[in-house]
Amino acid sequence: MKRLKENKVYIFDTTLRDGEQCPGAALKNHEKLQIAHKLAALNVDIIEAGFPFSSPGDFESVKQIASEVKGPTICGLSRATPQDIEATWDAVKYAEKPRIHTFIGTSDIHIQAKFKKTREEILNIARDMVTLAASKCPDVEFSAEDAGRTDPFYLYKVIEAVIDAGATTINIPDTVGYTIPDEFGRLIHGIMTNVPNVDKAIISIHCHNDLGLATANSIAGIQNGARQVECTINGIGERAGNAAMEEVVMALKVRPEYFDGLYTDIDTVHFAETSRLVSELTGMPIQYNKAIIGRNAFAHESGIHQDGFLKGRSTYEIMLPEWIGLSESYLPLGPRSGRAAVKSRLEKLGLAVSDEQMSQLFEAFKCLADEKKRVEDDDLKALYEQAFARA
Ligand code: KIV
Ligand code: ZN
Repeated sequence: MKRLKENKVYIFDTTLRDGEQCPGAALKNHEKLQIAHKLAALNVDIIEAGFPFSSPGDFESVKQIASEVKGPTICGLSRATPQDIEATWDAVKYAEKPRIHTFIGTSDIHIQAKFKKTREEILNIARDMVTLAASKCPDVEFSAEDAGRTDPFYLYKVIEAVIDAGATTINIPDTVGYTIPDEFGRLIHGIMTNVPNVDKAIISIHCHNDLGLATANSIAGIQNGARQVECTINGIGERAGNAAMEEVVMALKVRPEYFDGLYTDIDTVHFAETSRLVSELTGMPIQYNKAIIGRNAFAHESGIHQDGFLKGRSTYEIMLPEWIGLSESYLPLGPRSGRAAVKSRLEKLGLAVSDEQMSQLFEAFKCLADEKKRVEDDDLKALYEQAFARA
């Protein structure tokens, strides 16, 4: 099987599983359903809806999403045990397109510290559990947990065995966000060139952000042959989070010359709204300077930038706010703002001023901005009134 569409990068959203696992982000089932519908509107290819064996509530949630959300493949996570796999199948089997995702740690650190087993034993478990999952579901994903710290030669053997056992997607997680882009790219390249049956599966990547490199590592993975990216909205996830979907998708969209015809099917105009919804429901605020969807991502405050932007937006913007569903860029007025932005805002408010009037008003504006830090429309109207309207 596989390589469904040669140039497509499949987007696997794990906001409801890895994302929801992060401290303080727990969601109620009706909230998960609401997010899942939004993810379907965004046109993600796969929704990892939860971890059915982990709790009765999560089981019900995955089952409900599988039954009600149409379009994407609905996936559930399971450890490499028969009980987990049974529970996952019982929850996802209601989907139009169900997937079982099973995983086991393959690094020596995990094999020895967590499982107290040998490499051979882990390989056998992986093969047997994928065989079991494939006997239930035609779509099986296998993750080699901590692949980023796994001996590549052992990893190739595990991947070959699980593909033979019926895995259709092989996920390569950088579980602890330890790798560097060049290193992670080489790992994916090594898999593409050393695993004899690799053409029978899609290679997926799942990068954590402990060193702030999750997006960069995902990009390196794509450039080296991965065709599924696991990511979350707003980059939420265990510890420092997962690769942010909006960052990976917009990188492909804004810099296609680096991706040789690769594309995603994401309808990016839903990003702003989906991001807001996830932030509200999880109670996790978005940092102001977060790439793509942060409050400042399309805001320009310094006079030099505002002036440049007003002369030609491409001076300081590499994408349009409309692409992610925002109506416009924003020029906040503060102590570092320049005349051009103040004049432009006055014009928007229907208050045209001559150059001479502008000089007079701008002095008053600067004094107020130093005092208040942010000058709002009402402040500007009041300044105008004081300066001219009563004259
Ligand atoms: O980070 C990780 O390794 C995971 C796996 C379960 C895919 O989340
Ligand atoms: Zn993870």
